[in-house]
Amino acid sequence: MSDVQQALQLGDNIELPTVGFGTFLIKPDEADGAVESAIIAGYRHIDTAEGYHNEAGVGEGVKAGMAATGISRADLFVTTKVWPGNAAWGDPPKTYDGTIAAFEASLAALGHDYIDLYLIHAPSGGDERLNQWKALVDLKAQGKVRAIGVSNYLETHLEEIRAADLPLPDADQIELHPWSQKPALVSYLAKNGIATIAYSSLVPLSTWREGQDSSKTDQMKADSADEASPFKAMAKKYGVSEAQVLLRWGVQKGYAVLPKSLNADRLRQNLDLFGFAIDDADMALIATMDRGDGVAWPGVDPTKLG
Ligand SMILES: NC(=O)c1ccc[n+]([C@@H]2O[C@H](COP(=O)([O-])OP(=O)(O)OC[C@H]3O[C@@H](n4cnc5c(N)ncnc54)[C@H](OP(=O)(O)O)[C@@H]3O)[C@@H](O)[C@H]2O)c1
Repeated sequence: MSDVQQALQLGDNIELPTVGFGTFLIKPDEADGAVESAIIAGYRHIDTAEGYHNEAGVGEGVKAGMAATGISRADLFVTTKVWPGNAAWGDPPKTYDGTIAAFEASLAALGHDYIDLYLIHAPSGGDERLNQWKALVDLKAQGKVRAIGVSNYLETHLEEIRAADLPLPDADQIELHPWSQKPALVSYLAKNGIATIAYSSLVPLSTWREGQDSSKTDQMKADSADEASPFKAMAKKYGVSEAQVLLRWGVQKGYAVLPKSLNADRLRQNLDLFGFAIDDADMALIATMDRGDGVAWPGVDPTKLG
């Protein structure tokens, strides 16, 4: 098994490739080329969502990537997410039937027969939140998805599922990087056998989502640009890039990571995480850098949407 195919265990003996290709903010008409390039570079795990409006392009890219590399659909791991709605935004929460319909629409857009991992994008379903989860449980029972999970769920949302006597998710996809470490939540997930998938690992880079909206603070932006930053020092020490340090941190913590890049060199670099290790002293130093909540969503913390 090559390094890039290292995997985490998900649910019932399903392998989740540790490094996935993120596709948020990749335009619909660029997603096919980006995903094809990612598969050619060695990515075997692709992350999209109904809310990214690029599933059709991602599906085209998967097809083109399989043709270019000779691999089959079974060699790939594809995640997509249902947008649950959010009453506070005038966007009515999806019902059980609405969730099933959204799944069928995602499957058709991707052009696939099944999804490897289907997630609820945020806990914003309000009174419908448990009905949305029941729909995912039924899709898994019907074999239409191999694994099911959630994203941006906190312990309270997961305990709501347990209290309803429903199976717990196979995975929770949450914002995790040295500035948002969520130690209590990740230890709860580990204790409950829920795989942790980290998103926005690269927030501390000055090149993270340049020119795009987010909740990254001015202080964080100044720290990202600081030539004396600890991540720049570690990159020099290990002979890798800052991005590789940040992604390797996630991998060493036991998370899957989902780097997004439209740049060919970065794409390859972000997969190359298994030829070095961050030493204990540096892991301990990074553990002191937590600044609390995530910043990836502009103007809102998705874990707090109800
Ligand atoms: N569930 C959720 O709520 C949620 C929220 C956010 C993200 N996600 C998922 O997680 C994925 C990753 O998160 P993300 O898109 O926020 O950001 P990310 O992968 O942490 O960072 C991407 C940004 O960093 C730049 N970059 C990438 N590799 C680099 C490198 N090696 N050196 C320097 N700069 C680099 C990219 O620019 P270039 O493209 O120009 O290289 C882009 O601006 C998303 O695409 C999505 O699939 C999920």
